[in-house]
Amino acid sequence: MGDKLRPYLEYQADRVEAVLSAHRAPSRVTGGTVGPRLIRFFLNPAPHIRFAAIKRLADDLALALRVPNLDIGRGREGVVVTFPNPEPQEVRLLSLLEEVGPAPVATAVLGLTEDGAPLLARLPAPEVVHILIAGTTGSGKSALLRTIGASLVLTNRPDVLRLVCIDPKGRAFAGLRDVPHLARPPVSEPAEIREALQSLVRTMEVRDQRGERQPPLAVLIDELAELVFTGGDGVSEALTRLAQRGREAGIHLIAATQRPSAAILSGLMRANFPLRLVGKVVSATDARVAAGRGGTNAHLLNGRGDFVAVSGGEAPIRFQVAYIEEESFRRIGREAAGAGNQRRMR
Ligand SMILES: Nc1ncnc2c1ncn2[C@@H]1O[C@H](COP(=O)(O)OP(=O)(O)OP(=O)(O)O)[C@@H](O)[C@H]1O
Ligand SMILES: [Mg+2]
Repeated sequence: MGDKLRPYLEYQADRVEAVLSAHRAPSRVTGGTVGPRLIRFFLNPAPHIRFAAIKRLADDLALALRVPNLDIGRGREGVVVTFPNPEPQEVRLLSLLEEVGPAPVATAVLGLTEDGAPLLARLPAPEVVHILIAGTTGSGKSALLRTIGASLVLTNRPDVLRLVCIDPKGRAFAGLRDVPHLARPPVSEPAEIREALQSLVRTMEVRDQRGERQPPLAVLIDELAELVFTGGDGVSEALTRLAQRGREAGIHLIAATQRPSAAILSGLMRANFPLRLVGKVVSATDARVAAGRGGTNAHLLNGRGDFVAVSGGEAPIRFQVAYIEEESFRRIGREAAGAGNQRRMR
């Protein structure tokens, strides 16, 4: 913990107690956690105080603490007050990978949860299968796709995991151009994209017939909405089929878009993404569209890699995306290409 942070935490804890007491909701701050981006205080309210009475005071607490946003929720630890860390720490993919150690095949490292635990996504797990990433511009979607791509490449040999990279803007995956995991070079032109998706559908059908699902094939897609919009029916249809039936063939879509709205993505396609990773969105309505359900508070996220993972009816998990700079990303791509990925790179 930074030296400046300790007096700050004490001061803020005193403020929280003072505000709650002044509003007749006396509570004690009994503990908390300091995460890379977020600080959490655990509150123990006096027995007669209702949770709703505390929750109503979120705006007053934010004002008193002089923080841009503040969330009050219920957790295992009781009432939890969450606000931004004034000394945010970077979460770096390469150091997180070292910490995590060996992971199962086709498992992507996403970042660190609020509790400081690494968050992983094992693609073949039924709760994962396909991942839809959503969030406004600057929320960190492309960076998250890079993190997923880099972590898959670094922890899986090219014979146990194959990658396909699709990006209409042609920027996001440039660093992976030469890695041996690629089933084909990254595609960005509309005609190429259509062809790549149709070829994936054929692969799926062949694998289906043979009852094959190995090796897992991860399809990274940036700017999904643009792709569907400009690619027309062929693209939309291929994506829908892959989302519906890819799982049995070991084909996994990992797609990012600003807003997965019904206007662009068919209900059928959206319904087949069990895991949603949602970054900052601009409104509560957008949060619902992005997460496919309410109650995630994605409009209160801070941007730049502050995300929630939403899967089924489970409580959303807030996490900070592990970051890999473009420079290291390109270096990894080059090293992987050179070494045939026989050794673990850093
Ligand atoms: N996990 C992260 N940690 C630190 N900084 C991040 C992280 N993710 C993104 N950023 C910062 O935010 C900027 C925008 O991120 P990114 O390009 O991924 O956003 P985006 O959601 O893809 O936006 P757009 O919709 O415009 O493509 C990055 O250039 C980087 O500076
Ligand atoms: Mg982007």
